[in-house]
Amino acid sequence: MGFCPARRIWPMMLGTGFFILAREDGDVPKAEVEDWAWVGGRPLGLALGPDRRSLVVAEADKGLLLVKPNREVQLLTDEAEGLKFKLTDGVDVASDGMIYFTDASYKYKLHGDHMLDILEGRPHGRLLSFDPSTNHTVVLLRDLYFANGVTLSPDQRSVIFCETPVRRCQRYHIHGEKKGEVEAFVENLPGFPDNIRYDGEGHYWIAFAAGRTRSWDILMRYPFLRKISPVLGKLASLPELERDSGVLSVTLDGKPVALHSDQSLYAVTVGLKIGKHLYYGSLTKPYISRIELSQA
Ligand SMILES: *[C@@H]1O[C@H](CO)[C@@H](O)[C@H](O)[C@H]1NC(C)=O
Repeated sequence: MGFCPARRIWPMMLGTGFFILAREDGDVPKAEVEDWAWVGGRPLGLALGPDRRSLVVAEADKGLLLVKPNREVQLLTDEAEGLKFKLTDGVDVASDGMIYFTDASYKYKLHGDHMLDILEGRPHGRLLSFDPSTNHTVVLLRDLYFANGVTLSPDQRSVIFCETPVRRCQRYHIHGEKKGEVEAFVENLPGFPDNIRYDGEGHYWIAFAAGRTRSWDILMRYPFLRKISPVLGKLASLPELERDSGVLSVTLDGKPVALHSDQSLYAVTVGLKIGKHLYYGSLTKPYISRIELSQA
């Protein structure tokens, strides 16, 4: 699931391909929702489009989609350098209209075998850009480990993207003298990062679909175990991995501020602070939830 706030409406995606809007009433979104557009598949990433009226969707199976204000769904791109995307995952849109997104894997699809990609531990992910004024798709970085969430920095000079199995997010410079360079942003995260969102107030919010459990540590340390992947893939998707989920806030420089984790946070895929609350979506639950952030 992905979501993004858009002034007084909340576009949200449920795992089933439904795409709905929740109306906001002041600070509190009402539980009033409507079906907005059917995109099908598994929409994993969501951002306001270049015109701020349409929505850009990273849909796992089809690729990068545009939902126009009239609710028409259009495919923007589904391949780069001759390789089809297999797991379009995260997306954000720069203020100049350029779309930045990730394909977590050109090798494995989401249904059934994305755990195999993580377990195989090889880099099949790419960071890409799509220019709506030319329709050109460009590969910015390749050989990434399950490239997942992506977000623009507020100064629009870089994008931060997360790689799930190696528990890190990196910064890729899109403008300035470091253009094209990659550098560490935050490493050794306490869980496996999914989406990353910027709250407009100086912090990024990184969602962990799973904490760093013992079984994961063992799998990551002994590559030969990962090779028996079909069996382990099933084992590794057992509920244990869905525990210790949470959301970490970090500064603009990637310094961790606070980890929000409790039993109601379950398989969190996206988290974002809006006002006094942390809103989050889950891989396994068909709703969004919020918790009040204490100012203590
Ligand atoms: C980009 O693709 C869209 C949809 O296929 C098309 O309408 C538009 O003319 C294209 N733009 C350019 C610059 O080729």
